[in-house]
Amino acid sequence: MSEKKRVLSCIQPTGDMHFGNYFGAVKNWVALQEEYTCMYGVVDYHAMTMPYNPKKLRENTWELIYNLLAVGIKPENLFIQSLVPEHAELGWILNNFAAYGRVENMTQFKDKSQQSSKGKEGFISVGLFDYPVLQAADILIYRADYVPVGEDQKQHLELTKEIANRFNNQVGKEYFVLPEMLRTITPKIMSTADPARKMSKSAGEKHNISLFADESRLRKQVGSAVTDSGDTEPGQMSAGVQNLFELLTAAENSAGHDQLMETYNNGTLKYSELKQVVADTLAALNQQFVANKKELTQDKKAIKNQIKQASHEIRKRAQQTVKEVKDLCGLSNIRF
Ligand code: TYM
Repeated sequence: MSEKKRVLSCIQPTGDMHFGNYFGAVKNWVALQEEYTCMYGVVDYHAMTMPYNPKKLRENTWELIYNLLAVGIKPENLFIQSLVPEHAELGWILNNFAAYGRVENMTQFKDKSQQSSKGKEGFISVGLFDYPVLQAADILIYRADYVPVGEDQKQHLELTKEIANRFNNQVGKEYFVLPEMLRTITPKIMSTADPARKMSKSAGEKHNISLFADESRLRKQVGSAVTDSGDTEPGQMSAGVQNLFELLTAAENSAGHDQLMETYNNGTLKYSELKQVVADTLAALNQQFVANKKELTQDKKAIKNQIKQASHEIRKRAQQTVKEVKDLCGLSNIRF
């Protein structure tokens, strides 16, 4: 029997998981578990690249684990990045196969370094610059075939392939698998408060709708979604309205979507009705996830043990890769 293809993806513990994360990536993670060998990481090393609070980081890491379990990720497929320190070791090695000029041009670095420089200390860390190389290590360390992510990660995936290629050429062996990106049907969910920018944690509270939010907050956010941004050509759907329809598609409410689209097409759509259907659709998911989380977090200790064990098992694969990589690139590989 041939071995199953491998899937790897990760998420940062930098705040609440939002509908952009879910519809753009995590919903796919759940589905892929049926067919593939899946590894999903909560990347706490990455979360250190922007100013952060140590206590909050640990809390956020476990909260995100509970959230991922509540939406249907199996515990055996979940790991915490810092429990597999080989990611950092491979990251260092891969730094030497990553072109400075390419890393410097990453859009995420440009956006976040601007954000960081406006912060209290005006400090931009080397970690932030090196972020995509560590991400390449996350992927390559498991020789992943597929990486399910949102559209915003496309550039990082391309860089990962370049690094893998350079490594393979230099060591004279097709060692690393060149991973393919997997998109959902809605790979870019926009902020309801500003449909010109993507829904994101780092842009601030109003720019993301938390999957586990208090329902009244969720309804308020959808209710105040921007529908007319003023820069739409006559006869063209505005980005805000488009995004609300996109949310219905993402949540698989095709009946609601099609019925409202018909009214849009014949010019009778009321934005308040569209918002109501979107709010009801998202609230139904929210209620289900909140209930799942309540149930499963009754025994947090058991979950912690499961995730530590899963990280330990997943680490064995990472250790094997690092050992082989060290052999290939001339480093000493003595076992003490
Ligand atoms: P993060 O934590 O920002 O987001 C996690 C996942 O959610 C997707 N996503 C979105 N998709 C659609 N619309 C949006 N508005 C939206 N916002 C976020 C992201 O594309 C991502 O798939 N760099 C990664 C974390 C990472 C990683 C990795 C991912 C570290 N190592 C290795 C894949 C493989 C990030 O910042 O994700």
